[in-house]
Amino acid sequence: MDRLSLGVLASGRGSNFQAIIDAIEAGRLNAVVKLLVVDNPNAFAVERAKKHSIEYLCINANEFTTKDDFFLGIAEELKTRGVELVILAGFMRIVRKPLIDAFPHRIMNIHPALLPSFPGLHGQKQAVDYGVRISGCTVHFVEEGMDTGPVIIQAAVPVSPDDTEDTLSGRILKLEHRIFPEAIRLFSEGRLRVEGRVVKISGYKLDDGFVVNPRLS
Ligand code: GRF
Repeated sequence: MDRLSLGVLASGRGSNFQAIIDAIEAGRLNAVVKLLVVDNPNAFAVERAKKHSIEYLCINANEFTTKDDFFLGIAEELKTRGVELVILAGFMRIVRKPLIDAFPHRIMNIHPALLPSFPGLHGQKQAVDYGVRISGCTVHFVEEGMDTGPVIIQAAVPVSPDDTEDTLSGRILKLEHRIFPEAIRLFSEGRLRVEGRVVKISGYKLDDGFVVNPRLS
């Protein structure tokens, strides 16, 4: 099978980007990152791209008249390079229609909570403040609206009464690094189909869709 062409959008440290690179290099994911786009010139994700000889662009939103134009510009750069799936790896903006229309159900995001709980910023802090006993992370397809699209994979972690935003974030991040490459792998194997707001996984095994690992510290 041909390698899946990925485009990655990031704003910060890029540890999920790194997990995807690692999965590719380890042969666990039959894909290639064609382009990294950052909206912030200081994003550490750029250093990761340089290290792995991945092309990158810093696109400054202020150079566009409207937000829609900014996203159209990104869509054009991705299309030019033959990108088939767009990965939001800590991209701190709400994606707008021109990019969504260019890649319908071909944009994935990872969110550090069990959606639809705790969408938006600081999902881990929201979980700690609310006092839930279980939280986790979600990979979903992106639609208009914040963290609302169809769920692909979720992974759950326990929350202790002593947890802080930092300790919970660390526990969740370990699972983010597992489920994001995994969701991309399912896509690359043509196993995901969106029906309404539900993602069907062909040849479904329980671990494909929902990982609960209460022993993970
Ligand atoms: C992760 O917690 C992810 O869930 C959220 O943004 C953070 C990005 O971290 N969307 P990194 O840049 O991948 O290290």
